[in-house]
Amino acid sequence: MAKVIFNKQIDDSYFLIKTDTKEEALPGQFYMLRAWDKYPTLSRPISIYDKDPEGTSFLIEKIGPGTQILSKLKAGNEIKVYGPYGNSFNYENIKSVALIGGGVGTAPFYYLAKTIRKHNPQAQIDFYIGERENQNLEDAFQDLRILKVNLKIKKGGLITDIIQYDKDLIYACGPDPMMKAVKEQALKNKKEIYLSLDKRMGCGLGACLSCTCKTKEGNKRSCKEGPIFKGSDLIE
Ligand SMILES: Cc1cc2nc3c(=O)[nH]c(=O)nc-3n(C[C@H](O)[C@H](O)[C@H](O)COP(=O)(O)OP(=O)(O)OC[C@H]3O[C@@H](n4cnc5c(N)ncnc54)[C@H](O)[C@@H]3O)c2cc1C
Ligand code: FES
Repeated sequence: MAKVIFNKQIDDSYFLIKTDTKEEALPGQFYMLRAWDKYPTLSRPISIYDKDPEGTSFLIEKIGPGTQILSKLKAGNEIKVYGPYGNSFNYENIKSVALIGGGVGTAPFYYLAKTIRKHNPQAQIDFYIGERENQNLEDAFQDLRILKVNLKIKKGGLITDIIQYDKDLIYACGPDPMMKAVKEQALKNKKEIYLSLDKRMGCGLGACLSCTCKTKEGNKRSCKEGPIFKGSDLIE
């Protein structure tokens, strides 16, 4: 059982929750969170937004019963934090990279951008943030400017309208249509691309098969072999 250190509102739909969870974890991994007994039945998969010696934080969008409960937690409340689960983004030997996040798909890129910068002081890092017109998701990422991460913000419309495919490597996370379009353009421009899939998850442990996706090597579990997959290996 972990404890909430703080829970702060970013805007009407997003909040940032920090817990005292201190295990080692890598950028791109996720935890299964739960702050209720019976309903909703399942714990909810949430990416690591940040990690520091004090704990682990999560950027969460209120969309249903689970995230509504999480949004109401206060400092000192208990929260179950199972994990970390899943694979991670590679952050070593990077010269230039574009991180592309749509909505809550931006969440894993704070810790990733920080980790890439730590391991690659000279790397060029662009971070595209796509959000609805009335949102201020970028408020959760302003600190990255100090680390010379170029924030490129698209409020309303399609984030794909502003993406330049000029970096060696692309990491993307967001709604399916965004990922499909980004993958198509990246491959057309002969760029290496990895996608973090947002599949519905039952157990998070590889047991229920609710999160499978189709790859060239057959079906794979997003919670175990993913959530990050090489774009050119994915079939759907
Ligand atoms: C690996 C991974 C990492 C994630 N990281 C984050 C994160 O950092 N922050 C965050 O806010 N969310 C994240 N999510 C999404 C989050 O787990 C879901 O939104 C969760 O189901 C919300 O729970 P809820 O009870 O509030 O809403 P639910 O009742 O589960 O869902 C509300 C509505 O949204 C739809 N829905 C929920 N999840 C999905 C989905 N994956 N695909 C399509 N439709 C969906 C449901 O069908 C339903 O209509 C992540 C998901 C995965 C798989
Ligand atoms: S969520 Fe159960 S196998 Fe992936």
